[in-house]
Amino acid sequence: MLNKKNLLQTIQGKKTKRIPIWFMRQAGRYLPEYLKVRKEFNNFIEFCLTPTAAAEVTLQPLRRFDLDAVIMFADILLLPHALGIDVSFKENVGPVLKFSNELQAISSLGKIDYQVFENVQQTLKIVKNELDKNNADTTLIGFCGAPWTVAAYIIEGKTSKDYFKVRQFAIQNEKIFCELIDKITNATIEYLNYQIEGGAEVIKIFDSWAGVLPSDQFDKWVIEPNKKIVENLRKTHPNIPIITFPRKSGLFYKNFAKQVNSHVIALDQYTDIVWAKENLPGKILQGNLDNLTLAYDLKGITEGAKKILMDFNNTPFIFNLGHGIIPDTPIENIERLIKVIRSA
Ligand code: CP3
Repeated sequence: MLNKKNLLQTIQGKKTKRIPIWFMRQAGRYLPEYLKVRKEFNNFIEFCLTPTAAAEVTLQPLRRFDLDAVIMFADILLLPHALGIDVSFKENVGPVLKFSNELQAISSLGKIDYQVFENVQQTLKIVKNELDKNNADTTLIGFCGAPWTVAAYIIEGKTSKDYFKVRQFAIQNEKIFCELIDKITNATIEYLNYQIEGGAEVIKIFDSWAGVLPSDQFDKWVIEPNKKIVENLRKTHPNIPIITFPRKSGLFYKNFAKQVNSHVIALDQYTDIVWAKENLPGKILQGNLDNLTLAYDLKGITEGAKKILMDFNNTPFIFNLGHGIIPDTPIENIERLIKVIRSA
């Protein structure tokens, strides 16, 4: 099938004239126009679940930058919210997830609030309609958190430095933890089907905390759930391109890529591109400029981007960062980066 969209062509392994570019967290607090919309809501979840507002901020980066894709505005923690967990976002703290007793809470999870999925689907419909009219070359990306990462937020109750609590919980209560992972996995498959039916053309699965597990647990909690999600999506939507992102998993990237049948593997900034080309055969790669270089090192941006271009050496790839844009990032740094890639 011939598709005009650069990103979709690249995922099919075709070399395109333009290198596809998008950024993780391209909609966010570094943009004054985002902060303006953000101010209208006290509650971040409510903001994510207001389709007109979410669609608006999804499209904001596209109005400023020459990008090949937009990622829908939402959050990976909408899933635990849909499962009935109390999720809130505190300024200068980040996400807070609350329940009194893990064991009881896990066994009571299961009923999905489908209104959450419907609202996200509505955001996608608005954005897709807008792209069809005005940006026919731009690809729409939907996403979710991978079960391990979502479970980590649930058990830790917040962002953690070492993920000690969830690791301890998974070791001491393996059967119950397995039940939690299964519940998240099954709900995620339904959630992604809603997204694809709303117009998402690519799905990205974020396993942001994949890197804290040793090999046997990595297989159980990272590889297996990612694999199950990909296999199930293929049953309902055989052609949907999928990007997986087992962040910070180092050499385990290799086994992950072998086991999980996604088209694209996103590389963090700690993974060497030349190593990845050799060790992740058959995958299109996405990556991987350091997000702190982007924020703080104008000179390093040019060098870093050129090194990435040299390492990929004319093979098809998707340009992105190793992790999301941070709020400190000056807009001109992003403009500089895009200019370097576009003039290559
Ligand atoms: O532009 C985009 O990338 C789309 C939107 C998006 C958000 N979150 C919006 C958001 C995406 C793809 C995410 C994914 C997400 N959310 C991940 C996976 C990627 C990663 O960063 O590893 C994770 C782990 C989360 C959980 C989460 N959401 C955290 C830890 C935080 C707090 C961050 C902080 O620095 O305080 C959020 C909040 C959040 N999600 C914001 C945005 C724009 C900022 C909240 C605000 O505007 O008040």
